Amino acid sequence: MLRLARSGHERQVEMEKRQFCSSSALDETARIQRLLDVSSALDQVTDLDSLLDRILTEARSFTHADSGTIYLRDGEKLRFAYNAASASLISDDSERKRFNYLNHIIPIDEHSIAGYVAQTGKPLIIDDAYEIGENVPYSFNPRFDQEANYRTVSMLTIPLKSAQGKNVGVLQLVNALDRESAEPIRFTEDDILYVLLFGKDAAAAVEKASLTRRIILRMISMSELRDPKETGAHVHRVAAYSVEIYQRWATLHSVNTDELRRNCDLLRLAAMMHDVGKIAIPDVILRKPSPLTKSEREIMMTHTVVGARLFRDIDSPLDELARQIVLNHHERWDGTGYPGTIGDIDLDPIVMGPGKRGQEIPLFARIVGLADVYDALVSRRTYKEPWKEKTVLETIESESGKQFDPEVLTAFFDVHPVLLAIKMKYAE
Ligand SMILES: [Fe+2]
Ligand SMILES: [Fe+2]
Repeated sequence: MLRLARSGHERQVEMEKRQFCSSSALDETARIQRLLDVSSALDQVTDLDSLLDRILTEARSFTHADSGTIYLRDGEKLRFAYNAASASLISDDSERKRFNYLNHIIPIDEHSIAGYVAQTGKPLIIDDAYEIGENVPYSFNPRFDQEANYRTVSMLTIPLKSAQGKNVGVLQLVNALDRESAEPIRFTEDDILYVLLFGKDAAAAVEKASLTRRIILRMISMSELRDPKETGAHVHRVAAYSVEIYQRWATLHSVNTDELRRNCDLLRLAAMMHDVGKIAIPDVILRKPSPLTKSEREIMMTHTVVGARLFRDIDSPLDELARQIVLNHHERWDGTGYPGTIGDIDLDPIVMGPGKRGQEIPLFARIVGLADVYDALVSRRTYKEPWKEKTVLETIESESGKQFDPEVLTAFFDVHPVLLAIKMKYAE
């Protein structure tokens, strides 16, 4: 079944030589075209998580790898960022998604395979993880194999280095599968060259998406730091819950893959910004420890309209989605939410309109609205203890057709196990 060849170290040296000596394997026009197509597709992905998903999908598909992992550099450590596994490894879809929300950190040093690659900045190819020689500093950790009843054989691990040479992370592919027998085989020379070339574009895209996310988080933190009732982890949770609920909703509504991908890409970032309008709410109201008066509550409600104004010059699909979510995340399915239908959101003073109801409320605002309420109920806030999960689910269910869209609720309950994993990942 297995073709065991030279040690990983020997192949690493050979591979480095090949990078400079030959490009004959890439002479096929189709292959180069594919690389170009994928690179420009990566460039259009805005959100970091969507990008990591795309990178792994592409790298796995080209090399026919059974699974893959991306680690992102976080100071002197590598943080497990994204995993894509075949059904043979994790058959349960919900389990697979939960797996992606693990907090797993490994030091950048020579002991682990990914750590070694990050430290040396050199790609590493291993033909059999259980036959690594004694003459190398790294070793394979079989713990995951044991837990998952899996057998890792071949591994291809490359550093994700940007054009400026900055090491942004590590891409690891596991078990190249024979296209006929589906048995694990070693990665081919073509695989290696392709992944190395692809890795450069992937690293550049990761760097760009990380920057976009940092800028958005900075903007959010300005409004959040002023509101003692919210925490930084809240926006990450609401964004991740929203993406999971939407993915399920899209599956139930047979949304095609391209549309799903595009929407998830934008939804995460747009959802993070749902309360950005609080930047305009006076401190005396935002920080008031006691319940708000009626007039204070009315001022608080304007955070939806004021926030939407930030996106008035819509020049990207992200702006458009963010505007929809910011404006409508407090609307209710039964029409009793706010700010309702307002003719011109730029007019002052802001006068709330009749509540939007049902499908009048944009889908993504219905989803984020639910994710926001769920998180507020299950989290500790300065003014309340976290509610028990069971009580929260009962309360939310009782609001079906009142506060919440029943179909969005169905998707929410379907992905609830994944939401629990998200809650653990982004704990306070
Ligand atoms: Fe809000
Ligand atoms: Fe919120």
